[in-house]
Amino acid sequence: MKTKKVLFVCLGNICRSPAAQAVMQRLVDERGLAGQFELDSAGTYGGHAGDLPDRRMRVHAQRRGYDLTHRSRRITPDDFDHFDVIVAMDEDNRRTLARLTATVQQTRKIVMMGDYISRNPHYDYVPDPYYEGSEGFELVLDLLEDACLNLLNQLVLK
Ligand code: 4NP
Repeated sequence: MKTKKVLFVCLGNICRSPAAQAVMQRLVDERGLAGQFELDSAGTYGGHAGDLPDRRMRVHAQRRGYDLTHRSRRITPDDFDHFDVIVAMDEDNRRTLARLTATVQQTRKIVMMGDYISRNPHYDYVPDPYYEGSEGFELVLDLLEDACLNLLNQLVLK
């Protein structure tokens, strides 16, 4: 399989998308597929550029063994060419991403993380936890662990 380049995108790139990147990296590593995947994350908003993930996200992720070390960055026009798959956490992210694309080929790279959620019938997107309490961060991790597994299974078949 040729290297698959996957970019996870949320608003600030300090909560959901760096967590998604770490969850997927662990799954890829566990399967011995590290050499076949390039994973990264970015935000549609650049206000947190250079920051580590939100401390609350880091604490909740650490409890599950994920070390979040990504530095926030805003998505760039080059990302739409470089990455094969661009994974939006919610509809707002998808709309913003679609507006930034330059070609139909780029637009086709955008997929919804919610389409890979299989264990929680109440969510077809990954909700923004920024203004939520602990449960919001736990929910994000539950949804991402489920969705990343299904997304990875689909990507390895392609
Ligand atoms: P994220 O969460 O999109 O999952 O990284 C947020 C981070 C920052 C803000 C909103 C959501 N903010 O408004 O600064």
